[in-house]
Amino acid sequence: MLHIYYATDTGNAEIAAHTLGQRLGESSAVVVHDLGTRTPDDIGAADGVSLFICASCDEGQVPEHARDTFDALSTGGHDLTGIHFLAVGLGDSVYRDTYNHGCRRLVSALELNGARLLGEPYLHDASDGSDPVTAVEDWYRTVADALLAVPR
Ligand SMILES: Cc1cc2nc3c(=O)[nH]c(=O)nc-3n(C[C@H](O)[C@H](O)[C@H](O)COP(=O)(O)O)c2cc1C
Repeated sequence: MLHIYYATDTGNAEIAAHTLGQRLGESSAVVVHDLGTRTPDDIGAADGVSLFICASCDEGQVPEHARDTFDALSTGGHDLTGIHFLAVGLGDSVYRDTYNHGCRRLVSALELNGARLLGEPYLHDASDGSDPVTAVEDWYRTVADALLAVPR
């Protein structure tokens, strides 16, 4: 099972999550979640692998709709020790001091509770002109598939 969680401000992360979910769902079991509707306990209880697609907004914050979940994770004390996860950040390097900080913060909060990051987060930069949804699909095909093939 693959659980895809999105946190979005202007919609890219949500579209990327559903686009990937639809494509992968043709060959395997995938569930797409609005991160803001999940508690840390929900995230910790998920089977299989988790993928977090998180935009940055408001000077490097996690998007508003997912802020309560993020804040709860940030306090620590939740059992995410069974969770292996991949991370994607959607950001823009014009925000030089807070580039992709939303994703970086979310990764730290997940790790604080014992979740294990697989590989390096993929950080998309809107300034390179590429479409974030296509870029996430390309990353998944070339990198994530290989990471998930590694025995854990
Ligand atoms: C008002 C605003 C603030 C932003 N702040 C940041 C930021 O601090 N750091 C960053 O890397 N990107 C920032 N971005 C860029 C977005 O994260 C990027 O465009 C991303 O693709 C948006 O994804 P979303 O549509 O899922 O929200 C900002 C964009 C806007 C419109």
